[in-house]
Amino acid sequence: MDTMTINKIVASLLIGLLLVKVGSMLSESVFDVEAPEHPAYAVAVAESEAAETAEAAPAKAAEPTLAELLTAASPDKGKRVFAKCMACHSVNPADGNKVGPNLHNVVGAPIAHRDDFNYSDALKSHGGTWTYEMLDHWLTSPKDTIPGNKMAFGGVSKASDRANLIAFLRANTENPPPLPAATAEASGDETATP
Ligand code: HEC
Repeated sequence: MDTMTINKIVASLLIGLLLVKVGSMLSESVFDVEAPEHPAYAVAVAESEAAETAEAAPAKAAEPTLAELLTAASPDKGKRVFAKCMACHSVNPADGNKVGPNLHNVVGAPIAHRDDFNYSDALKSHGGTWTYEMLDHWLTSPKDTIPGNKMAFGGVSKASDRANLIAFLRANTENPPPLPAATAEASGDETATP
């Protein structure tokens, strides 16, 4: 190896070292930020995380039951969900049937509750009544609840939307059955929702 080559190697080593040094000085000046005296942001995050965990814990332990959802349900919100149904149904007794039967007084009524509507055989022969549970199943998926029915509607996927909808149908029923008790259905160690 001649001196020229050695010089080149030494020079490139020095340049390399210099670059590393400059780099670390730059990064220190960029990243070495003094910690604020009051880490307000960090505290806020920690608190809200704690609150979220506390709120989320019971929901993860058990999905709210239908009884609990119905207890908390709002007929007014349900009226908005009923917009999905209005092409085919009315709850106003004066309106009569549309594509689907009038739904006034349907809660607690026999399945296929109108004498003046031409139900499918599936609904006519089903028997039973529109309990809250049955309505919830039906509104989740009509075709799975009573196969062969002719209600061309996929279902309402959100449980709270269905509960609000059922509360709206209940508000349009003159003598509705009592709501299922929220505590009776719960697993036992749960306290009643306020
Ligand atoms: C595309 C039209 C259509 C839509 C939309 C629709 N339905 Fe229906 N619904 C029907 C028809 C038709 C029947 C009768 C089904 C049969 O006879 O098989 C029916 C039956 C019912 C029944 C049974 C009534 C009885 O007398 O036993 C209920 C309850 C009901 N629908 C609720 C709803 C609700 C709530 C919605 C909105 C989320 C809805 N439907 C959306 C057409 C519809």
